[in-house]
Amino acid sequence: MLVKSLKIIPVEVVVRNIVAGSLSKRVGLIEGIRLSSTIVEYYFKSDELGDPLINEDHIRALNLASMEQMSKIKSVALKVNDILLHHLAARNLELVDFKLKFGLHNGQLLLGDEISPDTCRIWDKTTGEKLDKDRFRYDLGGVEVAYEEVYRRLLN
Ligand code: TMP
Repeated sequence: MLVKSLKIIPVEVVVRNIVAGSLSKRVGLIEGIRLSSTIVEYYFKSDELGDPLINEDHIRALNLASMEQMSKIKSVALKVNDILLHHLAARNLELVDFKLKFGLHNGQLLLGDEISPDTCRIWDKTTGEKLDKDRFRYDLGGVEVAYEEVYRRLLN
């Protein structure tokens, strides 16, 4: 595999279509409520601080990225959402949310992340069954079976 080394921007970008995970806890809504519009969130990448939620003003004031870079990051994140949402929906899969990271290669801004059930929440559209890392996070079992099911549907 040929790869490009990136200087990672220490901001995790989360795109949400449906309430789940930390959003559910933060705003007190139960998992599964469809958002009336897509939410893009930013988290400061810091293990010591537990990746706190920040906004574009923090990113600018802390010089984590320029506003031009943030504008491109947001637009790419929303484009990924649009493509992935429809791609998964055609396979009866619901894209709940996902996380992306970006970085710089010779000054060029690039998406630098995997897109997988480790970094996305993906539910069966009919049953609502979780087919992602939440099976591991919530100790639900069947992690491998769920990942294989996503893989099987993506091959179709
Ligand atoms: P959250 O609801 O826990 O904030 O997670 C939002 C999305 O980001 C979810 O699809 C899981 C993904 N995620 C990661 O890929 N890595 C992480 O470290 C965290 C906290 C979330």
